[in-house]
Amino acid sequence: METKSKKIYVETYGCQMNMADTEVVLGVLDGIGYKPTKDAASADLILVNTCSVRDNAELRAHKRVSELKEHKRRNPEVLIGVLGCMAERLRTTLVEKNNLVDLVVGPDEYRKLPKLIEDAYAGQRGIAVKLSRVENYDDVTPLRTEGISAWLSVMRGCDKFCTFCVVPFTRGRERSRSLKSIVEEVRKLSAQGFKEVSLLGQNVNSYHDGEYDFADLLKSVAEVDSTMRIRYTTSHPQDMSDKLIETIATHDNICKYVHLPVQSGSNRILKLMNRTYTIERYLGLMEKVKRSMPDASFSTDIIAGFPTETGEDHQMTLDILKQVKYDGAYMFKYSPRENTKAWDMGDDVAEELKVERLNEIIELQNGIAFDINQLLIGKNVEVLIERDSSRSADDLMGRTDTNKKTVFPRGNATVGEIRKVKIERANAQTLIGKLVPNMN
Ligand code: 5AD
Ligand code: SF4
Repeated sequence: METKSKKIYVETYGCQMNMADTEVVLGVLDGIGYKPTKDAASADLILVNTCSVRDNAELRAHKRVSELKEHKRRNPEVLIGVLGCMAERLRTTLVEKNNLVDLVVGPDEYRKLPKLIEDAYAGQRGIAVKLSRVENYDDVTPLRTEGISAWLSVMRGCDKFCTFCVVPFTRGRERSRSLKSIVEEVRKLSAQGFKEVSLLGQNVNSYHDGEYDFADLLKSVAEVDSTMRIRYTTSHPQDMSDKLIETIATHDNICKYVHLPVQSGSNRILKLMNRTYTIERYLGLMEKVKRSMPDASFSTDIIAGFPTETGEDHQMTLDILKQVKYDGAYMFKYSPRENTKAWDMGDDVAEELKVERLNEIIELQNGIAFDINQLLIGKNVEVLIERDSSRSADDLMGRTDTNKKTVFPRGNATVGEIRKVKIERANAQTLIGKLVPNMN
C-alpha cells in the first residue's frame, strides 16, 4: 500500500482505556507507515477516539469532529475518522446522513484500519463497528509516547451491566489478555526505561486467564521489576477479594492507592443501579482494606441524581463521603444513556436539583480532601517525577505512591527520578513542597 511516511493526528476523549486504545491504533498504523503528529493541519489522517459514558463527552467529541472537518475542506485528500465508543451510535448520523467522516471504527475493529483506510482512499466508506467476544489486541504492540508511565490494557469490556452505564454496549463483553503476554510486555517496558505501569480495564479486578485471577496478575507484574511502580484501574467492589487486598498490601511497588467506586450511599439506589453490594458490605470492605494498608489513599466515583433519587438518598451519599473520608472522588451528574436499563426508569430528577446535589457533593468532598492533605504538611513524601509543572517552568510535577499530585521547585531533580519532597502547603488536589537534598 502506498502510505509511506504519512502523518496521523489523533484526539482522544474519555477514560484511560481510550488513551491506551489510541496507542494500539497508532501501533496498527505504524505498520503501514503512518507517523503521529501533534499538528492536525499537517495530517493526512485525522482520528477522534470518542467516549460515550456521559452526554457531555459525546457532545464535545461531536463538536471536535465538525471543527476538524475544516482541514478536509482545505485539503480533500485528508481522511477523517471516528473511533471508539461512539462509533456504533454515530455511524448513522455521521456517515449515512451527513457524510461528515470517511471512517467509523468501533473499539474491537482497529486491526481493520489499514484495509478501511485503503477503502476510504478508493472512495468507499470505511465502516466497521462490530463488537467481538475475543479481540484483546494481545499481539499488537502499542505505540507509546515516550515517558515515565505506560498504560497497559489487560482486559476489555464489562459484564457488570450497572443500569446507568453504556460500556457493556459500546465496548462489549468482558475478555482478558493472557498473563504471560502481559508480563512479557511489562518486562519490555522496564527495559525501555518506563518507571510506572498502569494496568487498565473497565473492570480490571475481574481479570481472568484460566486459573489466574487479577491478584495473580498483579503479583507477577510487580515481581518483574521491583523499582517499577504498579497501578491499576478501575476496580469493582464485588471483585475486591481478600487475596487481592493481601497482594496489594504485601508488594512495596504496588501503589497504595485504592479506587473503589461506590456511586451512591443509598441501598435502594444501589439496587436500582445493579451494583451488587450494599453500603454495609462496601463499608466492611473499605475497613478491611484500611486495616491491611493503613497508609493507603482512597478514591471513588459518585453519581448525583440517578432516577428516583430523593433528598434522603442524596443525604446518604453525603454521609458515605463523611464516613469513608476519601482522598479524592470523581463526581458526576447522572446522564441518561440509550440502551441502558436506567434509561427506561426515566430521568426524573430535575436538572437544577441534580446540579445542586452535585455541587453539594463536590463541596463536601473538596473539604474532606483538603483536610486530609493538610495532615501531610511538614512530612516527607516520595514522588515519582513525571514532567515539568504546567503552571511554572521552574517547578516539577510528580505523584506520590498514594497518587497525590505534588509540585516543587526543580532544584537538581530530573524527570523519572523518585525523590523525597517535604510538603509545605496543600489544597484539595495538590501538595506543594521542597526537594529534600539527596544524600548520595
Ligand atoms: N451518568 C453519570 N455518570 C456515569 N458514569 C458511568 N455512566 C454514567 C452515567 N450514565 C460514571 C460512573 C462510573 C464512571 C466511570 O463514570 O461513576 O464509575
Ligand atoms: Fe459500567 Fe458498571 Fe461496567 Fe463500570 S462496572 S464499566 S460502571 S457497567
